[in-house]
Amino acid sequence: MKLQMSQPQALRARPRAGALRALPRRHTVSVSAVASEPRLVVPSSLQGGSSWSPNSWRSKPALQQPEYQDQAEVVKACEEIARMPPLIFAGECRTLQERLAKAATGEAFVLFGGDCAEAFSQFSANRIRDLYRLLLQMSTVLAFGGGVPIVKLGRIAGQFAKPRSAPTETINGVTLPAYRGDIINGPEFTPEARRCDPWRLVRAYNQSAATLNLLRGFSYGGYAGLSRVSQWNLDFMKNTAEGHAYMDIAKRVDEAIQFMIACGMDTNMPFMRETEFYTCHECLLLDYEEALTRMDSTTDRWYGCSSHFLWCGERTRQLDHAHVEFMRGVNNPIGVKVSDKMDPNDIVTLIAMLNPSNKPGRLSIIVRMGARKLREKMPALIEAVQRSGQVVTWVCDPMHGNTETVSGYKTRRYENIRSEIEAFFDVHEQMGTVPGGVHLEMTGDNVTECIGGGASISEDDLNSRYHTHCDPRLNAEQSLEIAFYVAQRLRQRRENLAAKTPAAAAASS
Ligand code: PEP
Ligand code: CO
Repeated sequence: MKLQMSQPQALRARPRAGALRALPRRHTVSVSAVASEPRLVVPSSLQGGSSWSPNSWRSKPALQQPEYQDQAEVVKACEEIARMPPLIFAGECRTLQERLAKAATGEAFVLFGGDCAEAFSQFSANRIRDLYRLLLQMSTVLAFGGGVPIVKLGRIAGQFAKPRSAPTETINGVTLPAYRGDIINGPEFTPEARRCDPWRLVRAYNQSAATLNLLRGFSYGGYAGLSRVSQWNLDFMKNTAEGHAYMDIAKRVDEAIQFMIACGMDTNMPFMRETEFYTCHECLLLDYEEALTRMDSTTDRWYGCSSHFLWCGERTRQLDHAHVEFMRGVNNPIGVKVSDKMDPNDIVTLIAMLNPSNKPGRLSIIVRMGARKLREKMPALIEAVQRSGQVVTWVCDPMHGNTETVSGYKTRRYENIRSEIEAFFDVHEQMGTVPGGVHLEMTGDNVTECIGGGASISEDDLNSRYHTHCDPRLNAEQSLEIAFYVAQRLRQRRENLAAKTPAAAAASS
């Protein structure tokens, strides 16, 4: 039977009048994850051209920045950071970008996870280990379901600065500056704690360096070896449904390894002993990011060396503002958070500014709008991006569109989180596009910050172990439960695709 293969369509952008200009047809690119010529031109009013430098953001409005009392101290603290070694290496960023390019086409899947905000007071080796091994467990579950490599990106070793909806907070008639993350001020509701202290920048750098040191040790020192899969179960998870389901998978992995050893596989192969683990955080505090921006000597390109991957938050992604200006010039893989407020024309312009040469893996679009709005709004965004021929990695953040206040606690309902992931997979399925990853606020700790899930955390439980300084996180059990749901969707997707292959079509004809 002869199958008719449809050619990838070379589609023309339909820009908003005056915003974008589509190049003539011969410049158009097809929707596929190959490096291709840019075909969208950024409006001249938004072009920075070659004038980018690590501090060119300073000529643009920068939202969500702290108001320091003593600028001279800020300069001193940043000079100190600028003298410190980079936290990551450019070559690692390039490898990560290759991995993320695979996720754009469904040949890999990305798992972002970690605290909403890291805290100085909660810094400990055990907490780092528990998050790390939970991410390993989730990756195992996802890889098992999806049959593709899982790219692990921890919101860790730099996830300190927080955007706020209001610059101040009022309690019992007292108004103080809002808490902006430990890298800026303290969470306690006192004038001293809420003062923005530039020397916190240096402390955050040091904590990030120590954290990364441990993460690298775990990744390359044997802890993450595949033969240890069954030892990653967290103690308090052993008697839970998720713990048991995980152990079933771990047992099957062990059996597969034994079988491969019997076939002659060398257990000293790197993939058996090590794993790749990358870090990410919101690129919010530009003084800090600038101080850690370095020129890579092998390529003469700039990299943000505070983290492998940086993302631009929903509140700071204005096309003509400082954060987009900074991010367009660093060569790391980057992301942008997108809510239902994003306009389809603007997303195309933003992508063209951040990834003008359309490099696969360079840009992840992290959608966060709640299930209902996602079903309503994401199709138009996907369509606009597809029409313009832009390659992005679509990621679902099911946390930030689902925050509510219950009994005085900022919380999220497990059901709503799961529903948003469901909507994300459904929309991609309907549109024939690729769900590339999930982005979760989660912890390896046994906290009670999100309501629901198998362990049925209720509203009344919130005050029992509510430890976050910022947004509520999924606890270990809830996170693993989400991983099982995503794995099921990945498996379903894989089966649907397999059913559409020429061999399957021939078999059924
Ligand atoms: C976050 O990821 O913690 C965050 C603040 O996200 P957003 O920009 O999507 O609100
Ligand atoms: Co958050």
